[in-house]
Amino acid sequence: MKTLVIIAHPNLTTSVINKAWKERLILEDGITVHDLYEKYPDGANDVAYEQQLLLDHDRIVFQFPFYWYSSPALLKEWQDTVLTYGWAYGSEGTKLHGKEFMLAISTGGPAEAYQAGGYNQYSMSELTKPFQATANLTGMRFLPAFTKQGVRFLTDEQVHESAEELVRHLKQTY
Ligand SMILES: Cc1cc2nc3c(=O)[nH]c(=O)nc-3n(C[C@H](O)[C@H](O)[C@H](O)COP(=O)(O)O)c2cc1C
Repeated sequence: MKTLVIIAHPNLTTSVINKAWKERLILEDGITVHDLYEKYPDGANDVAYEQQLLLDHDRIVFQFPFYWYSSPALLKEWQDTVLTYGWAYGSEGTKLHGKEFMLAISTGGPAEAYQAGGYNQYSMSELTKPFQATANLTGMRFLPAFTKQGVRFLTDEQVHESAEELVRHLKQTY
């Protein structure tokens, strides 16, 4: 099982949790860490390179901080340019069929805010429907997401532990 973790954080130098996750994942055999904002500081994707990376892995993970109930912009740009018709979808677009797909998301809001009646009203499962639909359209199996919520209030120890939890979550069989 080869896992590709595509990280989209516009400023990892000021990040706490996504930086800790990246630094931990880099140490892990069988996991390729791919930092989009580091590779493409000017925004444009190398589509052929990105598609080859996807082909070379079995489990694809999007790791990002939740921004406006979705991902930072470069990951959307990546989806728009890399997941092309005839390659990722359409009658002949079968290149991702049979792969597994997973999200790893940090949120500022606490878990209890993400429910009906809570501050953000909707659950993470509801808010990530576009990613679920994308996995469905491209023939990938959507696996349970890893979420760490209320991240502003975590201690260093909790940040460290969440990185270990992430590794276990990514390596698990579903
Ligand atoms: C532009 C922007 C939008 C954000 N939108 C949300 C949001 O919709 N929901 C939420 O819970 N947190 C939101 N946050 C908080 C981030 O999710 C939080 O700061 C991030 O997960 C922390 O990760 P880091 O330590 O790796 O930067 C937002 C932060 C920024 C800068």
